[in-house]
Amino acid sequence: MSQTILITGGCGFIGSNLVAFFLRQGFRVRVLDSLARPGSEVNHLWLHSLGYDEELTIIRSDIRDAAAVESAVHGVDGIFHAAGQVAVTHSVLHPREDFEINALGTINVLEAARRQRKPPLIVLTSTNKVYGATRHVPIVEQETRYMYGDERPGISEEQPLDFHSPYGCSKGSADQYVLDYARIYGIPTVVLRMSCIYGPRQFGNEDQGWVAHFVISALKRNPITIFGDGKQVRDVLFIDDLINMFWTVWQQHEHVAGEAFNIGGGPEHTLSIWREFGPLIERISGQQPAVAYGDWRPGDQRVYISDIRKAHERLGWSPQIGVEEGVARLYNWLLREHPQLSQMDNA
Ligand SMILES: NC(=O)c1ccc[n+]([C@@H]2O[C@H](COP(=O)([O-])OP(=O)(O)OC[C@H]3O[C@@H](n4cnc5c(N)ncnc54)[C@H](O)[C@@H]3O)[C@@H](O)[C@H]2O)c1
Repeated sequence: MSQTILITGGCGFIGSNLVAFFLRQGFRVRVLDSLARPGSEVNHLWLHSLGYDEELTIIRSDIRDAAAVESAVHGVDGIFHAAGQVAVTHSVLHPREDFEINALGTINVLEAARRQRKPPLIVLTSTNKVYGATRHVPIVEQETRYMYGDERPGISEEQPLDFHSPYGCSKGSADQYVLDYARIYGIPTVVLRMSCIYGPRQFGNEDQGWVAHFVISALKRNPITIFGDGKQVRDVLFIDDLINMFWTVWQQHEHVAGEAFNIGGGPEHTLSIWREFGPLIERISGQQPAVAYGDWRPGDQRVYISDIRKAHERLGWSPQIGVEEGVARLYNWLLREHPQLSQMDNA
């Protein structure tokens, strides 16, 4: 009998890639998703088109609905919890909703798991935002980017937590609860504090998913707004490398239960968001979108790079796909699957 996993947010960008992966590995997969995110309907149809009618169950429910979560969790061997309110900007406008989805929604998952006879593995998709503005880390300005002013290979798990913005607070509380359920109830849980993830099935917009947003804008020939000077640096991780990390955690979770890992492209996979990304997208697509500059967003980090050494040392994981290759794959996927994007006239 094959194993069953639940993927919350399974019609989202990360979730839908994960669902397809686990189906192909021979698992039975349950998805719980409210389809709140624009684009999740497209992923929903795509998942149904994969031909796993027997193995795939998609439950259209809200993570805030404890009874729905309880029944989705019943009897599963593992849970990848990726449903969430994902935008900092939205969280600032609607902090209660953000809290209820991200923090309370996670409690619903944890409590449902605790009531199982054999509690399943729970993997949380947390965020680097739990480290806040990392204000005390020295920064230097270079021609096309900011960089750390010391020799550090990035921000490690030792960095003090410093929740910034309602999104940071709600994800941060979820992160801490998930770790604590391993301590207090002995449930096998793992937290992945993820940096910027990008790739096919991502429908990024100005509020979240900037790599896909910029690539889509290039295709549509839409202008984009850069908040700040465009020299902000991020490490970026292609979705296949993240899926590989989830799979590694699934296989080795006994060794790492109750632990958090920083997951991103690390120092080898970084970009400044416009001064380096602009020329990159021009090399790939032959054009750069027009840009306007806006004020810095509050709390925006000049540099965020994940120190991914712990994931490498404990799990043998490291990213394989280079930035230029990954962005080209995203661009080509959009061209292939959504050719209408390039034909839209500033839509
Ligand atoms: N993409 C990244 O770069 C990144 C980085 C760090 C952390 N994360 C986290 O990873 C998770 C997945 O992110 P993503 O990029 O795939 O985002 P996404 O928006 O594509 O996916 C989130 C999914 O959750 C669903 N959802 C939203 N509210 C819901 C609710 N109330 N009940 C049930 N489902 C709901 C949406 O419909 C969507 O399908 C999120 O929790 C996010 O905070 C993402």
